[in-house]
Amino acid sequence: MLNIRVEKTTNPKPIPGADNPLTFGTIFTDHMFAMNYETGKGWHDPRIIPYQAIELQPSAMVFHYGQEMFEGLKAYKADDGRTLLFRPDKNIERANNTNRRICIPEIPAEDFLQAIKAIVKMDEAWIPTKPGTSLYIRPFIIATDPFLGVRPSDTYLFLIILSPVGAYYPEGLDPVKIWIEDDYVRAVRGGVGEAKTGANYVASLKAQVKAHDEGYSQVLWLDGVERKYIEEVGAMNIFFKINGTVVTPKLNGSILPGVTRDSCIQLCRSWGLPVEERRVSAEELFEAAENGSLEECWGSGTAAVISPVGHLRCGEKVFQIADGGIGELSQKLYDTVTGIQLGKIEGPAGWVVEV
Ligand code: COI
Repeated sequence: MLNIRVEKTTNPKPIPGADNPLTFGTIFTDHMFAMNYETGKGWHDPRIIPYQAIELQPSAMVFHYGQEMFEGLKAYKADDGRTLLFRPDKNIERANNTNRRICIPEIPAEDFLQAIKAIVKMDEAWIPTKPGTSLYIRPFIIATDPFLGVRPSDTYLFLIILSPVGAYYPEGLDPVKIWIEDDYVRAVRGGVGEAKTGANYVASLKAQVKAHDEGYSQVLWLDGVERKYIEEVGAMNIFFKINGTVVTPKLNGSILPGVTRDSCIQLCRSWGLPVEERRVSAEELFEAAENGSLEECWGSGTAAVISPVGHLRCGEKVFQIADGGIGELSQKLYDTVTGIQLGKIEGPAGWVVEV
């Protein structure tokens, strides 16, 4: 149990009103959670302080070798006034898996949850309530040793910041266009692809810029070894409905194990739909698109929620998925996942946690 010290801001910022067309990740609340780590001392000095710039040495290891982990989850305001988190235990478990992979000391799950709840409680007035909005929670840890050699740091800073957000993509729930990248790769098995760390995202930028220039929202990555099999999109996992079966790439060590991905799989199975987690080649998709059996495609992620995909492009091949609009199952998943998150629909036990 953390003994969290609280220092309130003396200079509160205006909270965005209902007329603010919230985008993603540009506005930050009044406070943040902070906690330090030092070898021999462990995690210590948990505190809630005003949101502020942090001071680091230019030699801090995070700047040079990227030893950092991050997570993303959301808080929602239910109609009855309760503040709800969606499956925070899954994010915390994944955070500690990432920590282990990149040699950052773990944070006990109960302390992690206490920290999230405490900072969300502090700034809960910032949770927006318009449909499609929420309070995005970004926990992250950075290596702070002032040292230029390559080794795990002995000191770390854990922060949680909060941002009221709208849709991740400007398209909202309108289908996005996705570029299947056959040149650059994001991750390979044995690397850090399944960890939530900045390295995976910096590796994606070059292809993302290329895709944007061509009018595509995101990049769909192929596996880094054979460059044949679909892996994930930069900010979400990917699903297909082929001939009535829901298909998603099997977690293989280079794919991020998404919380919304797992939720989609569980919901689809509970509705009696066949779900296959397996290898899916780009070739199989092209054939399914051509013979009309590719019925739907959507991405899943905390930031993206459920994001229908209307077009896929690989090299010179461009496919429209069904009529290019939002599919029936994608819409049902969006309505159900957001309904559970907002406390309007009862989900499986333990999915919704009250702050
Ligand atoms: C999330 O969905 O929370 C993510 O972390 C994706 C991020 C790159 C925006």
